[in-house]
Amino acid sequence: MKLLFATLLLAVIPSTTSFNLSNPNRPIEAGVILLGVTEVLDVAPMDYLHGISTRIAYALPVPDKLKAKFLDINFHWITEKGEPGKLTTNLTLAATDSFETSPPLDIVLIGAYNIEYKPNAAELAFIRKAHDESSAFITICGGYLAAQLAGVLVNKTATAPRFNVPELQKSDPRTNWVEKRYVRDGKVWTSGALLNGLDLMRGFTAEYWPELASVGVQIGAWPVRDGQYQGTDGLPNPNW
Ligand SMILES: *[C@@H]1O[C@H](CO)[C@@H](O)[C@H](O)[C@H]1NC(C)=O
Ligand SMILES: *[C@@H]1O[C@H](CO)[C@@H](O)[C@H](O)[C@H]1NC(C)=O
Ligand SMILES: *[C@@H]1O[C@H](CO)[C@@H](O)[C@H](O)[C@H]1NC(C)=O
Repeated sequence: MKLLFATLLLAVIPSTTSFNLSNPNRPIEAGVILLGVTEVLDVAPMDYLHGISTRIAYALPVPDKLKAKFLDINFHWITEKGEPGKLTTNLTLAATDSFETSPPLDIVLIGAYNIEYKPNAAELAFIRKAHDESSAFITICGGYLAAQLAGVLVNKTATAPRFNVPELQKSDPRTNWVEKRYVRDGKVWTSGALLNGLDLMRGFTAEYWPELASVGVQIGAWPVRDGQYQGTDGLPNPNW
């Protein structure tokens, strides 16, 4: 009878809808999709997730009861064919996965890449698939561009580097572009330039795992700033 009940339950609840990022029943798969030459600091916020994972918990001065809540996360660095990823400052990164070997990602992160790079059809298709399968789809700085090209920002509220926003409001009204350090619309999180990505990642972790995010702020010195820009922060100097 018990077995029958369990079988029925499994049959009724599809695995995708039963996954809850706040309270995961299996390891979280988190991945960075690398395009062109990616900005190091845009993808570095992934390390906030490492900072609240079981991979670091043992080394932190927190009570065991709290350590037990740290997250089981697998990290992926993905390029189309699994070739080395290129990042700014001449950093070459050994990809862990190709589009073919990557598992479905629960958390996806895309950072800015060199503007002359044009993502190919396979990359845009993978971004759409990753978006559809994810619980959280994050772009930092110019990473919005790949998401925009892939069409996953349509009918969403999103942001981009502040100096790009007025132009985007005119050129692509399919998206509600706002000037904020970061903005969330459902599972889509987008940020302004560079280190606004840290604000995004703090906000994201605080949304899903507030207790762990407070450990990051306390021990890891995660900066805490308002999601709103102050004054002309993020805009070019008019005297330039
Ligand atoms: C996900 O888990 C959290 C924490 O246990 C819970 O508060 C929330 O209601 C769950 N969400 C869903 C959609 O089940
Ligand atoms: C990266 O380093 C190699 C080896 O020193 C050098 O030849 C190349 O010019 C460097 N490229 C950049 C972008 O700094
Ligand atoms: C966006 O919203 C419009 C108007 O509601 C709708 O017709 C369209 O199908 C939506 N597109 C997507 C991709 O969600």
